[in-house]
Amino acid sequence: MAPSRTSPPPPSSSVTGLTPEQLTFFKENGYLIIPDYLPAKTASSVLSHTNQMLNDFSLEGHPMTRFTTGEDDSNDKHVGDDYFLSSNDKIRYFFESDAFSSAPPHNLTKPKHLAINKIGHALHSLDPAFAAISTTGAIGARNAAIARDIGFTDPRVLQSMVICKQPEIGAEVPPHQDSAFLYTDPPSAVGWWFALEDATVENGCLSFAAGSHKRAAIEKRFIRKDVYGEDGTGFEDVSGARFPKGLETEKEKSGEEVYTMGEVKAGSLVLIHGNILHKSERNLSSKSRFIYTFHVIEGAEEWQYDKKNWLQPPGSGEGFTRLFSAEA
Ligand code: FE2
Repeated sequence: MAPSRTSPPPPSSSVTGLTPEQLTFFKENGYLIIPDYLPAKTASSVLSHTNQMLNDFSLEGHPMTRFTTGEDDSNDKHVGDDYFLSSNDKIRYFFESDAFSSAPPHNLTKPKHLAINKIGHALHSLDPAFAAISTTGAIGARNAAIARDIGFTDPRVLQSMVICKQPEIGAEVPPHQDSAFLYTDPPSAVGWWFALEDATVENGCLSFAAGSHKRAAIEKRFIRKDVYGEDGTGFEDVSGARFPKGLETEKEKSGEEVYTMGEVKAGSLVLIHGNILHKSERNLSSKSRFIYTFHVIEGAEEWQYDKKNWLQPPGSGEGFTRLFSAEA
């Protein structure tokens, strides 16, 4: 990848990333919860900022794209329109499927600020409030130190989003692995997931199949079909590596996965390994569950990022945003 013009230096050894105990937990389980990672006032100001954005965005000319998950979803084609596929370097608003009436003409049944599923995918590079909890300032420096501790040598933030999980209509997210959507060969994705408000069983917190990153291969990957001269997105079998470097030989026996609930307070950071199976239930409660997340992949040369990925680097030629410079 081409170097970015503004590359932060490698984190100083004095910057705390993960403690040895936290790193061990992450390696063993494939996820890690760090309570109180964001100062309370930071979490609440980012939440207020998000609410302002939801109030301010315009429906004029909006294609009303819905964000849906799941390979078998009959609405699958909706996540493959141009509004979605060209959101890599923009801030765009994707609707919750259940925010529309089921009968024609399928009008919105909720005010727009209660109808958005997610905002993405370049908050980290276009909006200073999100940059400040991603790549810049004291929190950016700690994120970089965590990336260093996990083992990244050239960590690149390739996407970011707010996931709203709206009251009453917040959709279920079925079990999945993030590296299927952000595939490198070999896999390398890790998610930074920040609770902007409390995430509970009631409002659809995450749950994790602890340790599944060691036994669940990336079998299929999410692709943009224009590489085959077709429209939209789909899934295809992975022909490259299906486990990250270092995990190829673990070969734990796989059985029925058991999911552990990940209830967290506002301000918590959850690190999510790209191979771990995780999911969240519907939010039928009266409380929203707003979170901010960004994903990091390894940008060093031995990791291939190809044109099939739905998300492509910004047109500037600088590649995805560096969390820190690879050069010491
Ligand atoms: Fe995920």
